[in-house]
Amino acid sequence: MRHPAVPTTRFYQRCGIRDADLRRGYEACRRATRTQGEIEYAVSLLMPPPLRIATWALLGAGYCVDNLVDAADAPGGEIGSTGEAGPGRAERLEAWISAFEADLRDGRGTDPVRKALIHTMLTWNVPPGFLHTQFEELRQDVHGKQCATWQEWRRNSQLIVVPFALRAASLLLRAAGLSAEPEAIAAGVPEAAMAWQTAADAVYLTDSLVDLSDDLDRDHVPLPQEALDEAGVRRVDLLARRATPAFEDMVRHLADRARTCLDRAPLPRVLHPAVSIAFDTYTDLYRLCLKTVADAPAALLHRRPALPRSARLRLLLPARAKAALAWGLFPFPIQPGPPPDPVPVGAPGKLGLAEEVRPLAAQRRPIVPPTPHPSGARPPKLTAEAMPRHVAIVMDGNGRWATNRGLARSDGHRAGGEALVDVVHGALEIGLKHLTVYAFSTENWKRPADELLALMDEIPKGLRRLANDTEPLGVRVRWAGVRARLPADVTEALEDAERATRDHTGLTLTLCVNYGGRTEIATAAAKLARDAVARRIDPGSVSEHAFSRYLHVPELPDVDLLLRTGGDQRTSNFLPWQATYAELLFLDTPWPDVDRRDLWHAMEQYARRARRYGSVPRIPAQPTTLTGLH
Ligand code: FPP
Repeated sequence: MRHPAVPTTRFYQRCGIRDADLRRGYEACRRATRTQGEIEYAVSLLMPPPLRIATWALLGAGYCVDNLVDAADAPGGEIGSTGEAGPGRAERLEAWISAFEADLRDGRGTDPVRKALIHTMLTWNVPPGFLHTQFEELRQDVHGKQCATWQEWRRNSQLIVVPFALRAASLLLRAAGLSAEPEAIAAGVPEAAMAWQTAADAVYLTDSLVDLSDDLDRDHVPLPQEALDEAGVRRVDLLARRATPAFEDMVRHLADRARTCLDRAPLPRVLHPAVSIAFDTYTDLYRLCLKTVADAPAALLHRRPALPRSARLRLLLPARAKAALAWGLFPFPIQPGPPPDPVPVGAPGKLGLAEEVRPLAAQRRPIVPPTPHPSGARPPKLTAEAMPRHVAIVMDGNGRWATNRGLARSDGHRAGGEALVDVVHGALEIGLKHLTVYAFSTENWKRPADELLALMDEIPKGLRRLANDTEPLGVRVRWAGVRARLPADVTEALEDAERATRDHTGLTLTLCVNYGGRTEIATAAAKLARDAVARRIDPGSVSEHAFSRYLHVPELPDVDLLLRTGGDQRTSNFLPWQATYAELLFLDTPWPDVDRRDLWHAMEQYARRARRYGSVPRIPAQPTTLTGLH
């Protein structure tokens, strides 16, 4: 395994990255990781390139944001002086987080670092919730809040380091071909979770010592007051960078304590030998770091300690050779390589970030193109600006359609399922990215028992048919709704479809099953309130974007076009949060009679609408007809 000092364009191309901006973002994350996370950077170099760059993005983005927020405080920067811990830095951080959340919802990054981070999250299916812990760490850093007790300090370690460590383990397991969420790892192997916690405490304590001089630059003391009191160290001496004997004793004692934690926490042996080599090297480097710290405690007050070069190389050179051998003998199922051209048939020319790189896991599956409509109809060509990103449909009129034909209402729902498959093919043909359909609302429980029974029988069957028909097309299925009252086979069918298609990027089909808009908002508010009480979120930082990440499908973008079939003209508690600015279109046609041509026609009508979002029109409006399309 070669480790070029500065990765070349070819290196990034081998990771499937051709976009120059994206490469710049990864490079910024790499540089920040190398400077501020020397050990993590050294270990990242033991990984194959796709995992290596993912590590840089997940770790380095945090460092980059930290630097950006600080840079503006530097002399000549826009606000204040170096070391200011006032609202300027906090506001800049919140602005970055808000921009990130907006970018994540759109599936694209508007600056290179955000682009790299979102790219890694999409590539490895990292849920956005994971980032909250990172943001929390940044917030604590910016506010410079000093913990009073060890207990409080340890809570921070649990909140910040443990989720990160478990996320890293889950990423490695996923790369090894096993899907394991961090919570499942922690719940399934309690002793492993304990080991993680102990190791995380050791890492957090070491980092607190190593980062001391940077933190003092901001008048922040990263150790609990209790630790200072126990050692007889005065905060004022620390801030004045006075290396008292008490300070030196405290550092040696804490370094010893961290080393004991590392020794007491045999990290679980994992499946791949190279992963074990990486873990061992990581802990060995931390031990070396602790020795460096304990050897020269006074220096910590002035600079971050550098690992001694020769000892570092004595650890790293054999680790690199062993890791290269292990990767060579036991390659991960996911191998680096340029992704195939992911452009869906009929997609508009300009692709967003989500489309630029297909997740690596999905690269191995051949994606089949959608089947053309039997009539030979082709999708209209819409310009990128006129193209809705998200179409949501209330599939109404199934029952009446069936009754008018002397059939059972359940036959209407079955026919509705077939109409949906055709519409999905049409959505792929035209290059739509998000299609959301209302399949069963929380209000639908008021229907007669026999119809409910028929629906609960039809929905899982319809889902499995839908999944069979659309999985090969690269459609990603999401479920928005609540579990309460749904039979197990319905929730299983939904969850199976989500799992089977989680790496797909062609079109996201969100199925609203047991969904109610107000319930969604109320549930989100309840979760947010719980997080606020547990101090996982600062109530002062709750923005629209912060709120939206508590919704059923946080990544769901705003609805551009909301379509309802079956003749009624209301929105019926469907996506009230996401559809605030949606263009509405009502069709008389009952859903089972709808096909992809109706979707295309509706999208053409949308393209002629002038969207104002409360301001002046951007595109001149042209007359549209709001009647049925057939
Ligand atoms: C509304 O029509 C439709 C529904 C309540 C169910 C929609 C379900 C499907 C189309 C089945 C496919 C679903 C999946 C997830 C594969 P209605 O019964 O209210 O019709 P009406 O207004 O004529 O009575």
